[in-house]
This record gives sequence, C-alpha cells and structure tokens, in this order.
Amino acid sequence: MLVNHYTVQKPLPFDNLLVEIGFGRGEFITKLAKENPQKKVLGVEISGISVEKLLKRVKREGLRNIVIVHMDAYWCFNLLLKDRSVERIYMNYPDPWFKKRHEKRRLTKEENLYIFAQKLTEGGEIVIRTDHYPFIDYTLEQAKGLGCFGSSVRTLTVEDPLTKYEKRWVSMGKEIFELRLTKLREPEPRHVRTIKEVEEVFPVKVEGKEPAPENLAGKELKIGEMVYLKFFDFQRTEDRVLIETLLSEEGFVQKFFVEMRKREDFWVVDISPFSQVIRTENLQKVVELVAREGFRP
Ligand SMILES: C[S@@+](CC[C@H](N)C(=O)[O-])C[C@H]1O[C@@H](n2cnc3c(N)ncnc32)[C@H](O)[C@@H]1O
Repeated sequence: MLVNHYTVQKPLPFDNLLVEIGFGRGEFITKLAKENPQKKVLGVEISGISVEKLLKRVKREGLRNIVIVHMDAYWCFNLLLKDRSVERIYMNYPDPWFKKRHEKRRLTKEENLYIFAQKLTEGGEIVIRTDHYPFIDYTLEQAKGLGCFGSSVRTLTVEDPLTKYEKRWVSMGKEIFELRLTKLREPEPRHVRTIKEVEEVFPVKVEGKEPAPENLAGKELKIGEMVYLKFFDFQRTEDRVLIETLLSEEGFVQKFFVEMRKREDFWVVDISPFSQVIRTENLQKVVELVAREGFRP
C-alpha cells in the first residue's frame, strides 16, 4: 500500500513498525516483510522510480504488510509516525558518495537521528550497513551529541543473512560493517523543524480587479522565518489563471498551482484542486498574497 501523505490522517495508526529508509531496489524490504508477516513493514524513499518498482513487486508477490511512503525520511518520521511506534529502522548503504559537501543531506546527521530516536520504542534500534567506515565514524559522532543511544559495530560474515550483492562482495573479500544504535532513553527535548497543518485553506474573493499574474511570475520572496516562496510561469484563459508555485517551509518543499477563477463578476483565488498539498498556515498566506499582489486595480 502506498500512503498518500497529503490526505492521510496523521499520525499513522501503526505500532511496533519495522522501517527501511532508502529501500532502493527493494530486495531487503521484501525479504524483511516475508520474514515478519505479522508486522507492518514501512519503506521510505525519495526516489519515485524505486517507489514504482517496489509497488509492482508488492503487487506481484502479494505482500500485504508493506506500507510505502514516497517522502524524505526526516519529514516522514516528523509528520507521519507516532512517538515510540518504531521497533527497528534499517538503512542499507545509505551514503555512496560520502563527501563533505553532501553532509547536509546525510541520513544520519544529528537532526535526523534525534527525530528517529523520538519515534523508536525504548530498546528500539537503528541498524545500518555500509562498506565505508568513515560513515560509521560520522554517525557515531552525530549520535554522541544526543546521549540516548548505545552502539556496537561489527563486520559481517558469510554466516549473516546477506543480499545477493552482499554475498558477492563478502566472497570477494570486501568488508561490510554493521552499526547498531540502540535507544537506551529518550533524547533531551530540542527544537525540531516542522510545519503547521491546518484543517482548511480558505479561498479569497477579489472584486473589481483583473488578474495580473505577470506581477508575480519569476518572483522569489521570503514570507516568514525560514519560509520562502517562488512563483514560476502561469497559464491563462479567459476565466482561469494558474500560477506554478513553490513553497519551502523550514525545508519542507511543496510545488503546486495557485488558481484564479472567474465567477460571475468577481475572481476567487485558491490552491488548484488538482494540486496535492499538505495544508499549512503558510499556504493560506500564499493565497492571500496572490489575491493582494496578483491583480491590477
Ligand atoms: C545508495 S542507495 C541504497 C539503496 C538500497 N538500500 C541498497 O542497499 O541497494 C540510497 C537510497 O536512499 C534513498 N534516500 C536518500 N536520501 C533519502 C532520504 N532523505 N529519504 C528517503 N530516502 C532517501 C535514495 O533514493 C536511494 O534509493
């Protein structure tokens, strides 16, 4: 099952979840789901191609306990999962390009480990496989700051349950490491980047003015602390204008269309009903801004 994170009731009602972050080709997660038929196994991926492939595989193999979320892992944990609802998190070969300039995107940066720790049950684990020892050092360093994890590292052998690629690597003498971070206690509370969902974004009525989307196209604006807005191109017909828009709130990015629609003798500004969005306070601000700035008197 693929979760539609725009419309689903949050948080998801699951407990004792097994989660794989970045499942790639999906070999590991399907094996995990088969070995744990009584558990829900959740896969988080940002790659659409990987999600499509796993959906096909799940259907083909009739797997009923896999839940797929097409989202960045930080936001999936932040927005969709209950505290203490995850038993184990797996990450397999999460960082093939271990470069300094990619540090901000690393899955095991302290900010991510904090949110993962919040969602783990006590005694819950993060299990990471990598062939790159500096990644283990980096992760241990990031975890240290949180003070809530115990850790152990070992080298995998042919006796371990390995994927077909791992078997080949190990038999060729390549070293593969497994890092386990075990949650011993709750982390000290700290600030987390998040977004504020609202029940509804209300349309705005504009009277006595005509649309002027050219006022907005190409503009970049800061509309709040860590809140950025960018308007791209627009499409216009006699009774409708659609403006392609990007909103970044605390790093959570949504792309959608703002619609101006003609009704009798006035216009209505709203988020296009064809755009899927998580409704937030800032989306309301966007609608109001377009109603203010996107018309000529
Ligand atoms: C190097 S691949 C490893 C794939 C797979 N685990 C394997 O062992 O073959 C890393 C995977 O993590 C995914 N990924 C990277 N950053 C992510 C994030 N922030 N949230 C979710 N998935 C992510 C990528 O799309 C990619 O599929």
